[in-house]
Parts: sequence; structure tokens; C-alpha cells
Amino acid sequence: PFILSIAGGGSTYTPGIVKSLMVRLEDFPLAEIRLYDIDETRQNTIAPVVEKVIRDHSQSIKFTVTSDAETAFRGAHFVFAQMRVGQYKMREQDEKIPLRHGVVGQETCGPGGLAYGLRTILPMVELIDLVERYADKSAWIVNYSNPAAIVAEGVRRLRPNARVLNICDMPVAAMRNMGAILGVDRHKLEVDYFGLNHFGWFTKVRVDGEDRLPELREHVARFGLLTEDAAQTDPQHADPSWVKTWRNIKPIMDHFPEFLPNPYLQYYLMPNDIVAHQNADYTRANEVMDGREKKLFAAAAEYQRTGILPDAFHVGVHGAFIVDVACSLAFDLRQRHLVIVENKGAIANLPYDAMVEVPAYITSEGPEPVRMGAVPLFHQTLLMQQLASEQLLVEATIEGSYEKALQAFTLNRTVPTMQHAKAILDEMIEANRDYWPAL
Ligand code: G6P
Ligand code: MN
Repeated sequence: PFILSIAGGGSTYTPGIVKSLMVRLEDFPLAEIRLYDIDETRQNTIAPVVEKVIRDHSQSIKFTVTSDAETAFRGAHFVFAQMRVGQYKMREQDEKIPLRHGVVGQETCGPGGLAYGLRTILPMVELIDLVERYADKSAWIVNYSNPAAIVAEGVRRLRPNARVLNICDMPVAAMRNMGAILGVDRHKLEVDYFGLNHFGWFTKVRVDGEDRLPELREHVARFGLLTEDAAQTDPQHADPSWVKTWRNIKPIMDHFPEFLPNPYLQYYLMPNDIVAHQNADYTRANEVMDGREKKLFAAAAEYQRTGILPDAFHVGVHGAFIVDVACSLAFDLRQRHLVIVENKGAIANLPYDAMVEVPAYITSEGPEPVRMGAVPLFHQTLLMQQLASEQLLVEATIEGSYEKALQAFTLNRTVPTMQHAKAILDEMIEANRDYWPAL
């Protein structure tokens, strides 16, 4: 049985991940779960809920809650990382500062994601170093920390040999919705996909060897990438902003006749339309703080008071996916999953060392990317521009370079002019005083 540490134990996602672990104990046996967070208060609020979830399924799993890295990682076999540097308060800034300049306000796409990257890369590297110091030598870090594309590139640059697998649940959430549309379990889908994290295209969606993408596109053209009840199976994606995100790909899809775009492409390809419908005074961060976060804290308080735990946290593909990936790493299952991985020729006309998102077989030694071939010039160019923006942001972080940060902001397709880039960057420097390296 494994020792698993969850870094970012105080996250609103932790109970859902642990619940997913509990229903998979036969596939992924656990001796101990450790929660690790630098925010003790937050983690201590959520820990009793997590403990209850564990005890409902197992009396024997040891449960440890700590803010001490050695206690957290000593001898660990797996670390699930989900850090949010600056928490929701800073996410709110990431979203609201660009919006004040008429630019998309989103936590991973656009200036918000770049700002979040500048906060996260160095702490992520610190976490990797702590894990490498204390954990089992064969330990894997499965990393959900956002902005995933930038974090992955930062890790590749700074810790190229670390055993870190960077993942995102957006592709698998999209596949859940595809399954609902087609009336098949998402595990039966085999997809081809090329791109960067939050920036790519599905090119094949096979069910028993047959490509069902054309049929899917017909549904998406009319209703978006969701069904009436698909969203409802997962409370997160039933929130108004998520329903909108799934629906909103209709207008851009028409322009990619042969593919199905990742919904996040709406932020890059129709930013004016997005901004027109965003509220600069109430963004997704507010929705999450007023919704998911409040509900979980209220549930924790009620559990403390009454001993009864209301079902207030979300389980769904987010938790299920990280457990799937961990199983494949642990037992060399070579399952095919969409993950973020060094290109190594998988996308023939992108740089060999770019961190791309493609299907990969997950072995005990890590992901083996599947060849997706060369992509059309238009897509390649969009990808190269986004990649340059992300890579410059990583270099800005490492070198403390204002110029490179400005270039990163300027190259981002959500940002219309260099003046916008500069105004937003300068405001963000102020807001991120406690978090960014000096630029
Ligand atoms: C999906 C994306 C993540 C993103 C999250 C935001 O899961 O893949 O990258 O962070 O949505 O969700 P939230 O509910 O916090 O807005
Ligand atoms: Mn993601």
C-alpha cells in the first residue's frame, strides 16, 4: 500500500480527490494519506471533512495533517500537487485587473494566467525539491497546479529530470460531456488531440474504432459541448459560468470544420465577445468564493457541530482522473490519457522540447506521447505564438526580466496592443508585490 501526500491539502478540491481515492482502494491501495499545506488554518478547517470521508471507507488508512514538509513527504510514494499561490484573493486580481483594461479576465488564459504563472513557478520548484529530499526515490508528483502549461514549462526548464507529471482535467471533462452526448461511457472514448494545455483541438473521437467526431460537431453546433444533464452530474460545471464556457464554443467551431476546439480557445479567438459579457465586479473567483468555498466551509462547520457531514463537495472527473493517472503510473498500466508532456516529435511541426498536450501512454517511467503528426499552418502558428508567450513568461520569472514579461503579455492573443500589455503588467506588478520575483 502507498503513502500519498496531497500538497495543497487545504484546497476545496481535496475532499473530492480523497473521495475518488476511497472508491478506488482496490486499484490503488493506500497505507496513509497526508495533507500538506502552508496555510494551516485553512487546512485544519478542511481536514476533519477529509478524515470523515476516509473513515466512511476505511479504518486502517493512517491520516496525517501537517505543515511540515519532512512529515508530509518522508517516504511518500505519490504526491498530488494542487497549489494555488495567493489563493482566491489573488485569482480575483488576475481576473479583474485585465478586465479593467477591457481584456479577458481568466485565471489561466490571458494576462491572468501569466500573472498566476509568475507566482507559481518558483514555489512549484521549491515543492519539487522538498519532495525529492524526503520522498521515496521512485515517487511521482502528479501535478494539477495551474496555470498548468506555464508550470509545466517552468518545471522542464528548472528541474528537467524531476518525476513530475503535469495534468489538467479540462480534456477529460470535455470527454465526459462527449460521452454524455454520444450516450457512451467516457472510458470508451479514444481521442486524438493536439495543442498546448487549454489551447488545442480534438481531431478524432473514436468509439469502438469508429470516429464519431462529425456527429459530435453537429450536436456542439446546436447546443455546445454539453447535454442538459451532463453539467448537472458535476456541481462545478453546473455553475452559470461553466455552462456558458461549454456553450460558447459554437461560434468558433464553425471555423474549424474538421476539429473540435478546446472550449478555452474562445478566450483567444473571440476575446471581445468574452469581455463584453464579463462582469469586472464579479468574476469566476467571486463565484467560487461565494459558492464552492462557502459551501465547503459551511459543511465543515456543520460537521463539527452535529457530527453529520452534508454532501457539499464535488466529486467527478477531476478526482477520478488524477486517480486513473496515478494507477497507471503505479502499476505500469500504459493507459492512454491526455496529459502535458514534452513534445518529442508527437506534434511534428512544433519544437521537439515544447510542453504540449497530447494523448500519451502512462507507464511507470512516465508518459510516452502518441504521434499526432503535423498540424495545419494556421493551428501551428497560433500554437507557436502561445508557446512563445508562455516560454517568455517562464524566462521572465527565472531572469527577473521586465522586458520578457512585457513580451509575454504582448504576444498573448487576448491582449490587443503593447500599451494594454504594459498597463496591465504594471498594475499586476503592484498587486503581486508579495508574490512575484522582482522584475
Ligand atoms: C478546469 C480547468 C482548470 C481550472 C478549473 C477552474 O478544471 O482544467 O485548469 O483551474 O477548471 O475551475 P473553477 O471551478 O475553479 O473555476
Ligand atoms: Mn486545466
